[in-house]
Amino acid sequence: MTRGPDRLTFRRYAAFTTGMALTLISLGIYTAATGAGLACAQQWPLCDGGVLPQSIPSFIEWFHRLWAMITGFLILGGAVWAWRARDRLTARTRYAVTLATVLTPLQAIFGAITVTLNGALPGGYSAPVHAAHFLTGFSIFALLSYTTLTAYDGRFSRDALARSRLAVGVGLGGLVVAWVLSRIDPVSSYGPPEQAAFYAVSLSAFAALLAATRWLGDLGELIPRAAAGGAGALLFVAMVLGRDLVVYSAAVRFVNWLVLAVAVALAAGAAWALRGVEPDVERPVYGSTDD
Ligand code: HEM
Repeated sequence: MTRGPDRLTFRRYAAFTTGMALTLISLGIYTAATGAGLACAQQWPLCDGGVLPQSIPSFIEWFHRLWAMITGFLILGGAVWAWRARDRLTARTRYAVTLATVLTPLQAIFGAITVTLNGALPGGYSAPVHAAHFLTGFSIFALLSYTTLTAYDGRFSRDALARSRLAVGVGLGGLVVAWVLSRIDPVSSYGPPEQAAFYAVSLSAFAALLAATRWLGDLGELIPRAAAGGAGALLFVAMVLGRDLVVYSAAVRFVNWLVLAVAVALAAGAAWALRGVEPDVERPVYGSTDD
């Protein structure tokens, strides 16, 4: 019996949901950077005394919430799908999407506290709440990326070496663009569009480096693997430094510069090390999924 269009598979659904989460985080960053965080007259779930926003800043915040609601339901749908198709998906895939689903209501609560629940929570709009909202959002994205990666196991058209090279290349390219857009570079004014773009590019590069780290582990290429993993970890530190969670002094700016420079060097080193690696047809492939 056909259960739906053949093109709609769990892995494609997971990839789409991950893209929605990436866009959502970028929209959240844009909301914060434009100073629209409290624009809905400090109301939630309403906005400006009603369902619809009444000004441009309110619209920016409202749109972030709307996107969050759609993405939240998609994440929940992913968990339901993963458990219904549990005989065709690995436990890692199921648990990763389930954890993302558990974190999503928590994230909505942090968002609601950020807008101070109709002004009822003094101190809701504060650095610790912003930090929690950012870190939980990042965790949801990382878990969805992992869900997608594991759901694609055994379904790739390229071998693990070609994929790893591609992923390291995407990670390296993304790191360079992120550097240009980042808070440290004089090229970027780090205004709202640059901030939103910095996080969109950084999250894409992070996902690519996560994929490279996983596939290089399968290949037993431990040094490039450590380099790709290290670059991804440093990119995360750069993303944290891109928010106003610590006072952005000259010393912190230098640390930010150093973190990105070492991340680029590590990704470039991984790409260089992979140049000489020969493909090995005997290398193991993950068990495939039917969904
Ligand atoms: C899965 C759901 C969500 C994700 C992944 C997400 C992600 C983010 C991120 C990454 C930021 C930027 C934080 C920063 O500046 O460091 C942000 C900002 C914000 N989010 Fe969300 N968000 C979600 C849901 C919500 C919800 C449901 C609300 C409202 C109830 C909300 C309200 C806000 C507000 C007001 C800001 C701006 C904060 C500021 O002005 O600094 N978010 N969001």
